Amino acid sequence: MRIGLAGVGRIGAFHASTLAGLDAVDEVVVADLDAGLARRVAADQGLAVEGDLDALLARDDLDGFVITTATTARAELLRRTVAAGIPTFCEKPVAATLPETIELTTIVESAGVPVHVGFQRRFDVGYRRAREAVASGELGVVHAIRALTHDQEPPHAAYVPTSGGIFRDCSVHDFDIVRFVTGQEVATVSATGANKGAAFFGEAGDVDTAAAILTLDDDTLVTATATRYSGGGHDVRMEVMGSVASVAVGLDASLALRSAEEGVTFPTGPVHANFMQRFRAAYVAELTAFCDVAAGRVASPCTVRDALQAFRVAEACEISRAEGRPVALAEVADAPVADAPAADAALGSAV
Ligand SMILES: NC(=O)c1ccc[n+]([C@@H]2O[C@H](COP(=O)([O-])OP(=O)(O)OC[C@H]3O[C@@H](n4cnc5c(N)ncnc54)[C@H](O)[C@@H]3O)[C@@H](O)[C@H]2O)c1
Repeated sequence: MRIGLAGVGRIGAFHASTLAGLDAVDEVVVADLDAGLARRVAADQGLAVEGDLDALLARDDLDGFVITTATTARAELLRRTVAAGIPTFCEKPVAATLPETIELTTIVESAGVPVHVGFQRRFDVGYRRAREAVASGELGVVHAIRALTHDQEPPHAAYVPTSGGIFRDCSVHDFDIVRFVTGQEVATVSATGANKGAAFFGEAGDVDTAAAILTLDDDTLVTATATRYSGGGHDVRMEVMGSVASVAVGLDASLALRSAEEGVTFPTGPVHANFMQRFRAAYVAELTAFCDVAAGRVASPCTVRDALQAFRVAEACEISRAEGRPVALAEVADAPVADAPAADAALGSAV
């Protein structure tokens, strides 16, 4: 299988190396707006390279395409890969704006080309166990959930203005995984944010730390926090609190917390420094699943409509933060649901 990959920054170079290590993948061909960077990454990792995006997209020998460019460059690329009929893995969020995400949902669903969006937590063992625990009823009635995404260090300054903001860029992972774990949709949100770090967040209209309260359709309450300044380590967790039992995702030796209690030595570390360390196994499983999607063996385990739902929650949070009021998801535009069944309805599931 030959995979084209556009955008070899932090996550793109990492995904390229993961893909190249998979048995199903014979060749990875990369390109980037920065052609020199693409050549360097290709040389470092022993990958094939094209001089620009047009040359990569013009190839007729690609079995799948991976889009890991900056957020603002993804919508146009996704339109082009779907028009060319190439099964595509696209990092989250699929586009920088809600109208574009809605438009892409309609395009992808009517084209019937499989598109798998990069919410890797769906492949993380802990989140999957939490999902099973909710579905099996072993937690009893779930009353509250705490979800968090705390980065150890901020991204580079140039990343922030094109990121879509902390809710669309970071918390969107929590919004997706809350839907995945609970099977519920978000009904309302109340959100706020603050800046106590680098000035470039505020200059981009963004915040470096944010909090949201979500009410799910079944009245479960969720708190979701995100910060770019978790100096103690990359900290991504979820607690699901039920009437019978509760489970925690990410409560292991690498937990980026120190106990304030006397004599408690847990956790023993080392902590994770970034998302690549925290989710290494999940990224491998996710891209393995994408190869199955591209080969037509399974349906997309995370569709553009899933991505749209998480994006709508992020959008509602931005409105809530800006206007200082609770926002109902019903206020946020959605994509019409097509009558035609999805082309992959008969395929198996990767999750
Ligand atoms: N799923 C995850 O865990 C995860 C983790 C990190 C980043 N991401 C997502 O991946 C995206 C990229 O993040 P990153 O940290 O790698 O950013 P980055 O800034 O390190 O890399 C982005 C790359 O895209 C390239 N690029 C920009 N415009 C382009 C265009 N028009 N054509 C081709 N290449 C172009 C840039 O030259 C750069 O190499 C972000 O949108 C982010 O949301 C997802």
